[in-house]
Amino acid sequence: MANPTSFIFLLSLMLLLLQSYLFSFANAEILNVTTDKSALLALKAHVSSKDPHHVLISNWSSHTPICTWVGVTCGSKHLRVRALNLSYMDLVGTIPPHIGNLSFLVSLSIENNSFHGSLPNELSRLYRLKFLSFRYNEFSGEIPPWMGLLNKLQLLFLDDNNFEGSIPQSLSNISSLQLIDLSYNQLSGSIPSSLFKMPTLQAISLCSNKLSGLITSLDFNASSLQYIHLGGNELSGGLPMFDHLPNLQFLSVSRNHFSGVLPEIGNLTMLRELFLYENNFEGTIASSSLFECKDLQKLDLRGNNFTGRILSNIGNLTMLAYLYLNNNNFEAWDANLVTPHK
Ligand SMILES: *[C@@H]1O[C@H](CO)[C@@H](O)[C@H](O)[C@H]1NC(C)=O
Ligand SMILES: *[C@@H]1O[C@H](CO)[C@@H](O)[C@H](O)[C@H]1NC(C)=O
Ligand SMILES: *[C@@H]1O[C@H](CO)[C@@H](O)[C@H](O)[C@H]1NC(C)=O
Ligand SMILES: *[C@@H]1O[C@H](CO)[C@@H](O)[C@H](O)[C@H]1NC(C)=O
Ligand SMILES: *[C@@H]1O[C@H](CO)[C@@H](O)[C@H](O)[C@H]1NC(C)=O
Ligand SMILES: *[C@@H]1O[C@H](CO)[C@@H](O)[C@H](O)[C@H]1NC(C)=O
Ligand SMILES: *[C@@H]1O[C@H](CO)[C@@H](O)[C@H](O)[C@H]1NC(C)=O
Ligand SMILES: *[C@@H]1O[C@H](CO)[C@@H](O)[C@H](O)[C@H]1NC(C)=O
Ligand SMILES: *[C@@H]1O[C@H](CO)[C@@H](O)[C@H](O)[C@H]1NC(C)=O
Ligand SMILES: *[C@@H]1O[C@H](CO)[C@@H](O)[C@H](O)[C@H]1NC(C)=O
Repeated sequence: MANPTSFIFLLSLMLLLLQSYLFSFANAEILNVTTDKSALLALKAHVSSKDPHHVLISNWSSHTPICTWVGVTCGSKHLRVRALNLSYMDLVGTIPPHIGNLSFLVSLSIENNSFHGSLPNELSRLYRLKFLSFRYNEFSGEIPPWMGLLNKLQLLFLDDNNFEGSIPQSLSNISSLQLIDLSYNQLSGSIPSSLFKMPTLQAISLCSNKLSGLITSLDFNASSLQYIHLGGNELSGGLPMFDHLPNLQFLSVSRNHFSGVLPEIGNLTMLRELFLYENNFEGTIASSSLFECKDLQKLDLRGNNFTGRILSNIGNLTMLAYLYLNNNNFEAWDANLVTPHK
């Protein structure tokens, strides 16, 4: 190393490396309409040539401005891509990491196609996203924890895919989330404890997965929450009180392994639909606070082990239009029972 020539060589090599480092750093920072175009062309290249309606093949021509392309909406000021909607186009393909360069994207919707593979980490850079839908595709892999970084997200649809693994705890960090649909995937493990206390959440569906464990330890405390669907999982144990969900209208825990007696649910004064079917619930419902839920329109208790008499207080549920009680161990019907609608 004492040789001065090799020292100068080493020095210039270092300068070269530094320069290319700085250049690549600057390059990553400058995103403009041109880089949006290369991101979209990368997506086009990741879509199979099948493209049955020739949407991308003929319309996404590099000779025309991207803001005229089908499914692309630009902001009027910067002409950057603000919305990308490739839903219902029968496309087959994968999402390239370049989509993470569409840094002005507010809405990304790729519903009902045959996209597959996992979601690239680079999508975590889309920090302006408010709407994200990949529903009705064939995506696989885990739901990436970086989704918790998209903190402007309001609506998240990942349902009807092949996502597996557990639900990342970080999702409950998305402070503006209003709706989350993870149903019809292969998700397993227990439900993150803070998912039901997100301050703006209105609807959550986790149905038809393989989620397991108890839900009694979860923190159900959200005055905005109106809809909870946990049906078709492997959840067990008893039900919690649900006493801090004053606006809940829909609750389904059907087709799980829940057991025990019904908790007091009389605080759910807005409840309209309650689905408890195909579990192992037991005990009597005769004096249940259930009958204080005056707005109840649909009640399904079938396929459990409820016992005792069905009393006339079921007639207090004057809005009831849908009632299933079969496949339980109820005793004879009370003579005064108001006949439910057929
Ligand atoms: C976009 O940025 C690149 C550098 O990343 C630059 O070469 C190009 O000229 C810019 N294009 C426009 C339209 O500003
Ligand atoms: C692409 O589709 C849009 C909207 O249908 C249309 O306005 C535009 O002219 C099309 N561009 C090409 C190159 O076909
Ligand atoms: C995307 O396009 C589909 C079909 O054209 C439409 O039904 C849907 O509302 C659009 N989604 C968004 C978020 O704009
Ligand atoms: C865009 O993203 C891809 C992949 O993440 C990357 O290789 C490329 O350099 C990025 N930057 C630009 C300006 O296209
Ligand atoms: C998805 O699109 C296909 C036609 O492309 C249609 O048959 C199917 O019903 C759609 N699925 C959903 C859930 O919308
Ligand atoms: C949620 O956000 C807080 C604050 O930004 C951070 O400290 C915490 O690690 C995040 N939790 C998860 C599970 O990502
Ligand atoms: C429910 O959430 C509210 C608002 O975040 C909080 O003030 C209250 O202490 C919580 N109640 C319980 C029982 O956790
Ligand atoms: C409703 O919730 C409040 C607050 O937790 C509690 O004090 C009350 O007993 C509950 N009432 C019923 C009927 O569960
Ligand atoms: C049913 O309604 C009657 C009359 O409103 C009321 O006295 C009774 O306490 C109610 N029963 C239950 C179980 O809520
Ligand atoms: C239903 O409950 C009765 C009475 O508690 C009990 O004897 C029976 O074993 C239970 N049946 C099932 C299938 O759990």
